[in-house]
Amino acid sequence: MKYFFIPGRLYDLSWKELNCVCEKSFQKHEYILKRNRGYFLLDIDLDIQHIFSQLGGFIKYGEMLEGDLSVEKLTNEEKFIFGISSYSSEYSLKDVSQLAQELKKEFSNLNKKSRFILPKDESFLTAAQILQNRILQEGFELAILEDGFGKTIEVQNIDSFSKRDYEKPFVDTQMGVLPIKLARMMINFAKIPKGGVLWDPFCGTGNILLEGMDLGYDVIGSDIDEKSIEGAKKNIEWAKSIFGYSTQSKVLFFDVLNPSPSKIDILKNSSIEGIVCEPYMGEAQRKTLSVGKATSLINRHLSLVEALFVNLNNFGFKKNLRVVVVFPEYKTYKGWMSAETSKINFKNTKLLKEEGLHWSRRDSIIRRLIFIFEYNFR
Ligand SMILES: C[S@@+](CC[C@H](N)C(=O)[O-])C[C@H]1O[C@@H](n2cnc3c(N)ncnc32)[C@H](O)[C@@H]1O
Repeated sequence: MKYFFIPGRLYDLSWKELNCVCEKSFQKHEYILKRNRGYFLLDIDLDIQHIFSQLGGFIKYGEMLEGDLSVEKLTNEEKFIFGISSYSSEYSLKDVSQLAQELKKEFSNLNKKSRFILPKDESFLTAAQILQNRILQEGFELAILEDGFGKTIEVQNIDSFSKRDYEKPFVDTQMGVLPIKLARMMINFAKIPKGGVLWDPFCGTGNILLEGMDLGYDVIGSDIDEKSIEGAKKNIEWAKSIFGYSTQSKVLFFDVLNPSPSKIDILKNSSIEGIVCEPYMGEAQRKTLSVGKATSLINRHLSLVEALFVNLNNFGFKKNLRVVVVFPEYKTYKGWMSAETSKINFKNTKLLKEEGLHWSRRDSIIRRLIFIFEYNFR
């Protein structure tokens, strides 16, 4: 069976995420994954519903329809609603609208009563439009792709993400908070085995921890800020009560620059299988930075990452552990500045992709670069 996956706006991050989740879940010979302009195709004979439920960087997925488009392939219902989205350069919004009219006429000729929902500004329906109009419950969405036609199976559970994003009890407006879907993508990059333990050594208010629990991992968070530690604990208790997570969690004080032996023992005995974090990147920035300020923030961040890897080497952590880290890039009067690649080099550690993967918001002063390391304790 061929499935299409529609990524969010961060195509490269989503591509990496889907690869990591497939590599973790399936044997190499079981699937073929291909990228196309604007979407990805997965050829696999296994049930993939659980793959989609793990992803943070995807809007929807569905199955490709074999052969030509025919009304029978779309629905057996007598009365229904339908939507159409185009991810093909050959179908504009106008073509989508025309196809919808034609299909409605064909349905009507078969005595089927239908109404359709069209995309607004772009040529495709968003997850919110599909959910609000109950398109998948009361009908179907047809997807037009470069490779043919597809039928949507599921869209992203935006309700669950926005609950964790906006309704958790503790937020720190002074501190940069990692966007929840990016947190989930980063956890997926770590390829932690099912039921494994995730550690965020700079947990702040715990976005990575919440996503880790949502993915079924046991989590450990640590930080030096007592307010954040208490906040993360509160957020975890709230998330457990709302989402019913049953995985284990622990949040503790731990200074990566000055690690206490008792805390090291706790961490060492916790069977950590993956580390995902966003080390401190400075207070929230609103204006373009001077080169001096950016340099000092970059160096401070780098010293935290270095300390983390020194700790790993000193503790004697598990072999082949993935460490996924956000690095900052600052907008300065002399252009964008980030750590020199030659400095992103730590003992017993391999950087999997030199350039890092970009995450940014339009008009932002800080961009995030995601680096994936493979740490091998010798
Ligand atoms: C960017 S915030 C993390 C945000 C977090 N990912 C979230 O979404 O809430 C960085 C955190 O690093 C912590 N931190 C700074 N220096 C530290 C150190 N030496 N050891 C451990 N944590 C530290 C800060 O207190 C802060 O909470």
